[in-house]
Amino acid sequence: MLACKDLSVVIQPSGTRILDGATARFMPKALNAVIGPSGCGKTTLVKAMLGILDSEGTISYADQPVKKSADLQGKLSFAPQFSIAHERLTVEEALRYALDLCVRESATKEVRLGEILDRIGLAEHTDKRVSDLSGGQLRRLGLGLELVGDPQCMVCDEVTSGLDPRSEDQILAVLRRLRDEREKTFICIIHNLAKLDVFDWITVVYEGVVVFQGSLDAMNAYFGIPDALHLYDRLNEHPIDYWRERREAAGAGVPMESVPAVVGPAAAITDLADLDALEAAHGPF
Ligand SMILES: Nc1ncnc2c1ncn2[C@@H]1O[C@H](COP(=O)(O)OP(=O)(O)OP(=O)(O)O)[C@@H](O)[C@H]1O
Ligand SMILES: [Mg+2]
Repeated sequence: MLACKDLSVVIQPSGTRILDGATARFMPKALNAVIGPSGCGKTTLVKAMLGILDSEGTISYADQPVKKSADLQGKLSFAPQFSIAHERLTVEEALRYALDLCVRESATKEVRLGEILDRIGLAEHTDKRVSDLSGGQLRRLGLGLELVGDPQCMVCDEVTSGLDPRSEDQILAVLRRLRDEREKTFICIIHNLAKLDVFDWITVVYEGVVVFQGSLDAMNAYFGIPDALHLYDRLNEHPIDYWRERREAAGAGVPMESVPAVVGPAAAITDLADLDALEAAHGPF
């Protein structure tokens, strides 16, 4: 799975370090959440790991080094916050154009189109123009466009932000089904801390540093908070060096070149030590 070690992004010519020595790995065949206050570096982390932003440090995917974004082609896709579909196209046209780029056989194309429309729940809106879609429908179309290439891993930047609770739940349900039925991996930047219980593995970013990775229960225990809604207040109580040192002391710098397969319910894995144990038992993903 996607991992990075000591990853930094420095903006020139100011020399501002907007990502500072990030070490992280994501859980395969699982829903990964990336959280942190606005401006903390979530999008920077993800874009740097995908090779979209220049960075220092190492990135790997399924044990192979990633030097540039082309190394991830066909394995991983990225859905930016807003749909990239052209506003004048209909839902069906947008998906068809994308399928034309990936699938040659027309019969296969038809099957894939139907499957994707069903998955994202837009089968009744095929003739609707992109410009007329609601926010939630637009996000689901964005997901559909990601699914066209059938990647194993999908990265979504704020796929649920700004949506009403029902639309947010619908999108999370689509992601869950894809995890459970197709063993897909999702890495989602999210803002709604109340939805973290849907996710298997949580990455907390604070002031350009990855300060925690683990399950929701492990996160609440690590930060000594009753629930995730208290996280940002707790982070605010200490300077970033405190959180950085705590994570280093907790062993976040463990080698991460190989990442284990998830076997059994992902929820059983609560921290990096569990991931390491699985790796030892089952080999790299
Ligand atoms: N090209 C750039 N030049 C200068 N500063 C940048 C650049 N890109 C990002 N930043 C800054 O780096 C910090 C992290 O930005 P980033 O977009 O990663 O935050 P984020 O955690 O995704 O925030 P949000 O939740 O608001 O999307 C911000 O302070 C941002 O202003
Ligand atoms: Mg962002």
